[in-house]
Amino acid sequence: MSVRIPFTSTSTKPVIAVAFYSTYGHIETLAEAIIEGARSAGAEVRPYFIRETLPKEVLDKMYAGSSLSPKYPVLTPNDLKEVDGLILGAPTRYGRVPAQVSAFFDECGGLWASGGLVGKFAATFTSSGGQHGGQETTALTTMPFFTHLMYVPLGYTHPYVNDYAKNEIHGGSPWGVSTVVGSTGERSVLPEELELARHQGKSFAETVGTFVRGKTA
Ligand SMILES: Cc1cc2nc3c(=O)[nH]c(=O)nc-3n(C[C@H](O)[C@H](O)[C@H](O)COP(=O)(O)O)c2cc1C
Repeated sequence: MSVRIPFTSTSTKPVIAVAFYSTYGHIETLAEAIIEGARSAGAEVRPYFIRETLPKEVLDKMYAGSSLSPKYPVLTPNDLKEVDGLILGAPTRYGRVPAQVSAFFDECGGLWASGGLVGKFAATFTSSGGQHGGQETTALTTMPFFTHLMYVPLGYTHPYVNDYAKNEIHGGSPWGVSTVVGSTGERSVLPEELELARHQGKSFAETVGTFVRGKTA
């Protein structure tokens, strides 16, 4: 059986979900910049939070912030039906995405079975406590899910990926924008990382927009 690539947008404006999970706010900060960048490229951007799955008493012991009071609606598989692309942000947990994000992937079983993931674009961004604590493996280990969509890495599309702050700890890789938060989350997102986040949002929206316009040409 073949599945036709569906046409989601009703106009030539790409519709993009920026969905993220964030316990302490760093990923949320990157997400805001990504949203800004995607909007600057003319996309309709829909921000979402990935559903919290840990009990409040555990989150309180973790001194959680963002995930206890998410400021965006919780992402559901149905929401993905209405978008052309998904930019997904998640902090690392042991070098992989958090269980909350895996739970969302599992929720998408019905959508996958009905061909609802086909033809949608995807990108990722992340954060970690340590510089070598799993920035690239966190993106890499989402690939089994994202092979069901069309993954768009950041690549070397911005000089910061390769060149910036050579003497400084920083995030940003060809996989996507990222930040290094330190062992207690004491580090803030760097201005260069925010710029890279805006760039990733814009660049992804342009790629998806080209595809959407191509389908109506
Ligand atoms: C259970 C748990 C596991 C973690 N595992 C790692 C890890 O393997 N490597 C690392 O560098 N940071 C690790 N961290 C730190 C988080 O990645 C860090 O808190 C997160 O990137 C901050 O993002 P946020 O402010 O958006 O929540 C872990 C944190 C928790 C709570």
